[in-house]
Amino acid sequence: MEVFNYSENQKWFERATRVIPCGVYGHFSPAPCVPTNAYPFFSTRADGCKFWDVDGNEFIDYMCAYGPMIMGYHNPVVDEAFITQLKQADANSIASTKMVELAEFLVDLIPIADWAFFAKNGADVTNYAVMIARAETGRKKIIAIKGGYHGTAPWMQGIGHPGVTEEDVANVIRIPWNDLKALEHALEENYGQVAGFISSPYHHPVFVDNEYPAEGYWDGVQKLLKKHGVVLICDDVRAGFRLHLGGSNEYFKFKPDLICFCKAIANGYPISALVGREELKVTASKVFHTGSYWYSAAFMAAAMANLQELKRLNAPEYLEKLGNKFNEGLIKLAKDYGFNLKVTGHPAMAYYRITEDPSLQLHQKWCAECTKRGAFFTSHHNWFLSMAHTDADIQKTWEICEEAFKVLKSSI
Ligand SMILES: Cc1ncc(COP(=O)(O)O)c(C=O)c1O
Repeated sequence: MEVFNYSENQKWFERATRVIPCGVYGHFSPAPCVPTNAYPFFSTRADGCKFWDVDGNEFIDYMCAYGPMIMGYHNPVVDEAFITQLKQADANSIASTKMVELAEFLVDLIPIADWAFFAKNGADVTNYAVMIARAETGRKKIIAIKGGYHGTAPWMQGIGHPGVTEEDVANVIRIPWNDLKALEHALEENYGQVAGFISSPYHHPVFVDNEYPAEGYWDGVQKLLKKHGVVLICDDVRAGFRLHLGGSNEYFKFKPDLICFCKAIANGYPISALVGREELKVTASKVFHTGSYWYSAAFMAAAMANLQELKRLNAPEYLEKLGNKFNEGLIKLAKDYGFNLKVTGHPAMAYYRITEDPSLQLHQKWCAECTKRGAFFTSHHNWFLSMAHTDADIQKTWEICEEAFKVLKSSI
């Protein structure tokens, strides 16, 4: 099996570091992809569930642009909707009727939604949701989960992150996941001061196993928040539309007041959405929140086509089934070579870890060996499946994984 060469990638990275801070920043940064020489950094082409890097290496993509790609790169239905709308009207000086149609569509699709609002990135809507909670309650404090990620606004990051001040996070209380006692304690200790509770539907942090809600957790959360008059914000930016088309809260059977969507909403076209209950609509209309490109209609057309396709194909069912099959094969392969591969989180976007080495170095090496042979895996973040991944892709990936397990076994 061919082991990839990344000489052109390296050259482009050197060029990038001269003119771009960090070369490649944020979640695409090479920093957590170790060993970095096992990874490509620049692509030239993508199609279906594959992308090609600047050296011409072909990868089956298990990161799916870190979530946005769900129907496959260059999905013809989504792209056609985008291009058609682009030719008619995209960003001009007044809103498009597409915005109304997309809001109507989301209100029909998502049980808790009585209204929808559109922006560009996940953090645009997590930020807006928090502002709405504060405006509605007249309180300042927000409870969030330790390790929970909501974007890069200063309040979403922690002390110790360069550029973040104590004042930025003074009103954010972090509690452990699945800990109702800690939530109760935080609410009592800050009685009458908590505006909102923001959390992903299940815990999907980086570098550690992902965790589902414990039995009764969301029921307990809802009861406590109701008692204290606190707004429940579900951050479904990462998981949204992969687990359930009505919002991942439907999968886990709870009813938030606000849900934040982004990643998989438009198959890679930049748009995010906040949906909410009727009771918060007036407050939402009072909070000023907007952006230069937030009305771009072509992305709204793409979102509508993407969601219609996901519905037509019953995407969550396909992804869960494919994920279960993929994971069973991976776990068995690992076992055949004497390793324990732990799989946590939802099968459509699971987190993987070889448990023999708590330092994660063994797991990093395995992911790197797979990537160098054409299965693009990161070791620190959950992976993603798409509607473009087929049984044949899974089969080929298992072959790559087996080769990588052989290398791993011979190296210890
Ligand atoms: C759960 C969650 N919330 C919010 C965000 C922020 O989204 P964005 O990077 O589009 O601002 C992310 C991004 O990864 C996320 O995973």
